[in-house]
Amino acid sequence: MSDSTLHLNYKKYVLDDKLQYFKPHATKIENSFADEIKFSLSRDKKFISPKFFYDIKGSELFESICSLPEYYPTRTEVSILEQLQEDLLEYLDDSFRLVELGSGSSTKTRLILDIFEKFQSKIEYFPIDISEILTESSEILLSNYENLHITGIIDTYEGGLEFLKNYDTKKNLIIFLGSSFGNFSPDDGVEFLKKIHSTMKSGDLFLIGLDLVKDYSILESAYNDSAGVTAAFNLNVLSRINDELDADFDLNNFAHHSVYNESAQRIEMYLKSLVNQTVVISQSDMKIQLRKNELIHTEYSHKFKLSQLNSLFEDIGFDVNHTWFDEKKYFSLTLLSKK
Ligand code: AVI
Repeated sequence: MSDSTLHLNYKKYVLDDKLQYFKPHATKIENSFADEIKFSLSRDKKFISPKFFYDIKGSELFESICSLPEYYPTRTEVSILEQLQEDLLEYLDDSFRLVELGSGSSTKTRLILDIFEKFQSKIEYFPIDISEILTESSEILLSNYENLHITGIIDTYEGGLEFLKNYDTKKNLIIFLGSSFGNFSPDDGVEFLKKIHSTMKSGDLFLIGLDLVKDYSILESAYNDSAGVTAAFNLNVLSRINDELDADFDLNNFAHHSVYNESAQRIEMYLKSLVNQTVVISQSDMKIQLRKNELIHTEYSHKFKLSQLNSLFEDIGFDVNHTWFDEKKYFSLTLLSKK
């Protein structure tokens, strides 16, 4: 690996003629895992940020969730992507590249790359991900697409998009799939959309996948699967704290708890303390008391109504070009541009 030119505050690493990546030169100062846990577990209403789910084990468990019979979002979104191949072609031309927020599931990325392959002799794909994992998934994609050139940006979504705005004049089709947007709080979600809007150039397109409101029993079983994979995914965050922060959570003393809050249109996921207990988290220099039945909030997964989508996007300044959904109206994909 050779590192060469500096682009703004980023360092460029060229792995070969088809794979390079950029990483911020100076890493931003972020709170450590130990500090964030200390803050979130010392509140009256305890919580653990869902971003901490995704260590190696957690990412593997999430992959397993995606193919569970009860977890309809992934296969439904894939089925919509399969159907919009021709439609999406109408919006694209040779001046576009593909930008993905998160390095994504390769099945979904491939479905979009297949569209690009129809009209481009050189396809550019820019995954943006805070984790270096994107370099691994890139190698596999490169072996499958002869005309593919990958430039990874290892940074936050916001940082990566800002970088791209100043990178060149090429148009970007930005994709944010899987209803990951639903994991933001409503306020953070609006801030995030505003940020995307502000970093888009005129002519850029943004395709966002969102999970839709449906019967609560379908929603609750998607987050309480019979094989217990979602429970393992939720509990794994405690194992991670045990391993990385030298804590003594006894996983037998906690249960996965997940309910649909109809008025807030979201699944709320918690870890429930089954007994009165004290837990020591050495690296955070803290001891927490948990009452029997006390809940630690771990995730929101918001669901949206088709009738709410246009105003959500238009209020921020997007033009809605098209919304696709499946027959059962379980999931949607919306293509946006800047007004
Ligand atoms: C990543 N995210 C969109 C998933 C969701 O459905 O909210 C995470 C997840 N949590 C439990 N199951 C899946």
